[in-house]
Amino acid sequence: MARNLIFMTGATGVLGQELVKELLKTTDVEIAVLARAKNRMTHKERVEKILTSIGLDSHLGSRIHVIEGDVTHHKFGIKKADLEYLEHECKTFYHIAALTALNGTEKECQQINVGGTEHALELAWDLKKKGKLERFIYFSTAFVAGSVWDHCSKEDELPAKPVFANYYESSKYKAETKVREAMAKGLPVTIIRPSIVVGHSETGEVSEFNVIYPFIKLFAHGVLSKIPTHPENTFNIVPIDFVIKATCAIVKDPRSVNKAFHVVAPKPPSIGMLLKMGKEDYSAVPPIEVIDPKHFSKSKMNPQEQMVFSMMEPYLGYLNGQLTFDTTNTREILRGTGISMPKTDDAFLKTLVRYAVKVGYLAI
Ligand SMILES: NC(=O)c1ccc[n+]([C@@H]2O[C@H](COP(=O)([O-])OP(=O)(O)OC[C@H]3O[C@@H](n4cnc5c(N)ncnc54)[C@H](OP(=O)(O)O)[C@@H]3O)[C@@H](O)[C@H]2O)c1
Repeated sequence: MARNLIFMTGATGVLGQELVKELLKTTDVEIAVLARAKNRMTHKERVEKILTSIGLDSHLGSRIHVIEGDVTHHKFGIKKADLEYLEHECKTFYHIAALTALNGTEKECQQINVGGTEHALELAWDLKKKGKLERFIYFSTAFVAGSVWDHCSKEDELPAKPVFANYYESSKYKAETKVREAMAKGLPVTIIRPSIVVGHSETGEVSEFNVIYPFIKLFAHGVLSKIPTHPENTFNIVPIDFVIKATCAIVKDPRSVNKAFHVVAPKPPSIGMLLKMGKEDYSAVPPIEVIDPKHFSKSKMNPQEQMVFSMMEPYLGYLNGQLTFDTTNTREILRGTGISMPKTDDAFLKTLVRYAVKVGYLAI
């Protein structure tokens, strides 16, 4: 019989991988991970490859169990025997899977983020009613409140009229609404809301350069040269190790049931800090012009820049720092755990960029 079985979606992604690693290293839990076949690899081969790359493949079959499925299907399309296994053993369900591309289409975001969460909730209710489920942990995003407006987002509510920059944000809003409805009906839910997740606080290391990194690359490599923002505007990034450690501490604490937690930087860096570093430390970075958004016009760009800029529009809300985050719940629950809110200062930015350069992601 499995001890404290966790069921996790999204375990092959950036955050899921790190969470699996942390749980294997710091607890004795067993984890059943949902995975799908992709890139000519079976669901099992993919998980095995990831575990091998982090030196934890010896746990496959003993502490890690792989279940085939896709969140867009009813009950994730999980086979009957695997569903019965989860019914018998699963105590904690982490729903992490999502389409995280900020330029995802409305249909894709609806299908994976909203539909996927509906299917997760349906399964969670079954596991609670027929089985032993005690907790449902949902990975939302701090930008569930919409990144393009001047608002202080509270942890235990969703704004009535958010302003979104892209379908990722609006779909995560709809998904969190569904999760909150389930919570109101008695599902024991904890909601984790990270901001933009970046590399490790000390090494800058990250398994994949997603979300904000491609945006930075376009400027660092000179594909884009004009940015509509103000140097003093901030962008809320959060180191991955803080997100993982804070999540584990939050979930461990029974006070976290039926609450949401902003896992964000209390003092986010400014655009000016990033530009100054590029200019001073990396002579290969071409000049970047900051333009007041009021005077910015896409039509003044050359056709190539316009094309690239259109692809980048969904990201712009993240550079404007008008959405801010209340962190009362997170601070309260982390008090006394030894985990401090993350520092995202000039030195941290340097660490992130140094790592991206070292592994060849940024050629500057
Ligand atoms: N990264 C951030 O900056 C950030 C910030 C705030 C919140 N979040 C939230 O945190 C969670 C994890 O983010 P991440 O950065 O780790 O994402 P990621 O690296 O893009 O990974 C996404 C995960 O979702 C899985 N997935 C996507 N579609 C699926 C489907 N149809 N069926 C089954 N699995 C599917 C992927 O599986 P495959 O490997 O099979 O594609 C992968 O495991 C998401 O809910 C995201 O909204 C992330």
